[in-house]
Amino acid sequence: MGVENLVLPNSVVQVRVESVRHWTDDVFSLRVTRPVSFRFRSGEFVMLGLLVEGRPLLRAYSIASPAWDDGLDFYSIKVKDGPLTSRLRHVKPGDDVLLGRKPTGTLVLDALKPGHRLFLFSTGTGIAPFASLVRDPETYEKFQQIVLTHTCRRVADLEYGAKLVAGLASDPLVGEVAPAHLTYYASVTREDYVHTGRITSLIESGRLFRDLGVAGLDSVGDRVMICGSMAMISDTRTLVEAAGLEEGSNAAPGDYVVEKAFAD
Ligand code: A2P
Repeated sequence: MGVENLVLPNSVVQVRVESVRHWTDDVFSLRVTRPVSFRFRSGEFVMLGLLVEGRPLLRAYSIASPAWDDGLDFYSIKVKDGPLTSRLRHVKPGDDVLLGRKPTGTLVLDALKPGHRLFLFSTGTGIAPFASLVRDPETYEKFQQIVLTHTCRRVADLEYGAKLVAGLASDPLVGEVAPAHLTYYASVTREDYVHTGRITSLIESGRLFRDLGVAGLDSVGDRVMICGSMAMISDTRTLVEAAGLEEGSNAAPGDYVVEKAFAD
């Protein structure tokens, strides 16, 4: 998988795969070396891919590690017959992959107005940008309470997020603050589990807030980030707007921001 002898477009660089983990038959994560010049804000995404028949094939991926980390983590679905992920799923440590030079995105703290509590609503691989944000000390400087929700089809799909959250207490930068300020709420939709149901149903019924022992969404103190499929984003956005929150952007910070989980 070496790409040494090919001329790459200026927009990408070649980076080395450090590790790969297959979590289930449907999802895997990889860690690549971070070029010294590569800067990003926690929560952003970047193009990632491979040379396929001599041409770069890239997709937008959320960076799943925080801005201070030496490496770059990504969390991906494996789409059967997907042009990129059907190949990317086979990468191994020591292989080279292509990384875009320009990270970007709206799931960043800068796009939110100051608030008290931050809800991070995710489904499936949509947890990736939040894996970055919950390991960034700035998240805890800006918000008193962070609620990370992750909804997946099956219990096995929750493992990536559960491991991430379990590791926060020993994280070198947020280990002191995260355990006291972050609440993790996982639910599944197609198996029995302690919490079941789509995040939209859990918000709409008030079940999420009752389970957490907190008041429902309020536009004064709550800020929200949403990441999942297009349908999940659209449906969750409707509920968040019904609570009076207004969408923000890098140019005009607001009460909530959305992103799509990208792959194939
Ligand atoms: P469900 O099992 O009821 O489809 P996917 O892998 O398809 O992206 O789904 C990940 C999780 O997101 C699943 O638990 C799925 O629930 C849920 N989901 C799918 N569509 C929506 C939606 N429109 N709103 C909220 N949650 C959704």
